[in-house]
Amino acid sequence: MPASDLQVSSEISTKHSADGGKYADGVNWDDLSFKVTPTDYIYTMKCNDGDEFSQGYLIPHGNIELCPFAGILNYGQGLFEGLKATRTEDGRIMLFRPKENALRMKMGAERLCMPSPSIEQFIDAVKQTVIANKRWVPPPGKGALYIRPLLMGTGSVLGVGPAPEYTLLIYACPVGIFHKGRAALNLYVEDKLRRATTGGAGGVKSITNYAPVYKAQKEARAKGFSDVLFLDSVTGKNIEEISTANIFILKGNVVSTPALINGTVLPGVTRKSIMEIALDFGYQVEERVIPLEDLLQAEAFCTGTAVTVNPIGAVSYLTKRVEFRTGKEALSQKLYETLSGIQTGRLEDKKGWTLEVN
Ligand code: COI
Repeated sequence: MPASDLQVSSEISTKHSADGGKYADGVNWDDLSFKVTPTDYIYTMKCNDGDEFSQGYLIPHGNIELCPFAGILNYGQGLFEGLKATRTEDGRIMLFRPKENALRMKMGAERLCMPSPSIEQFIDAVKQTVIANKRWVPPPGKGALYIRPLLMGTGSVLGVGPAPEYTLLIYACPVGIFHKGRAALNLYVEDKLRRATTGGAGGVKSITNYAPVYKAQKEARAKGFSDVLFLDSVTGKNIEEISTANIFILKGNVVSTPALINGTVLPGVTRKSIMEIALDFGYQVEERVIPLEDLLQAEAFCTGTAVTVNPIGAVSYLTKRVEFRTGKEALSQKLYETLSGIQTGRLEDKKGWTLEVN
């Protein structure tokens, strides 16, 4: 580690032990949404291709320097993760299942031919990022500190292939609710554009999975819809994923979500948690192929780190529109209350899902 970075790290520990418990100035904590708010520090750790990640460190939040030849810029060799730190009423700061994000990053790194940090390195790096940006963790009940780990090929490459150097970079940002008021979504089923293909990278959190949904999203929003539901690329008949979230349906006592088998659906940490909570509630839970027609008869909701659990109010496909039950009686509301209760310390965490940071 260069001497200048060592200096930055020691300044951080002094500054934050003196500052403990205070909130960042100039933030309207009552009106957080999901938008860019730069915080104090980012974490960075580098590694050459074929080596292992070793020593990472914190640097002040700011722009990063990349060579124009960087693999991430030219060939999209990059992954991201998303997880949240929340502040409890009694002043603790908690992460939600960070090991799951570390494991998913490992899986994605393998798919994109990148080295990845160990589980311990990932969790330690996330913790350091949260502690360094502690004053940006919103007050209890006001939102969360969203932590965004990026793993990217930062080495120079022109011939198409894995970059010679990689960087894990973690930044953080205070966020509130992704869809304002957790309003029920009005989804448009995209009948032409596809999000993921069998054997592709839809099942890992590749950076390249997101920009391709913009066109469908933009067109749907122009028609008054809130987001897009994508169909499978082979038959165009089965539902797979919303642009940034997994989907669930409820019919009778059965909660179903699209299976991961084709590698086209992201293995969401919230998806996995909601399946467990629904089982605890006594529902039967299925991961399966879900034909569009099944959706057109049920309660539906979506899950993700950013959205948590959000009800779906309506789905439109071509000329057909179906409306779903939402509100206090909906299962999605009960699932949301339980999940967010565990995440914020309002409910006892009997599953060992939370990890205290401070
Ligand atoms: C998340 O829920 O953390 C995601 O990655 C979705 C994001 C693109 C907003």
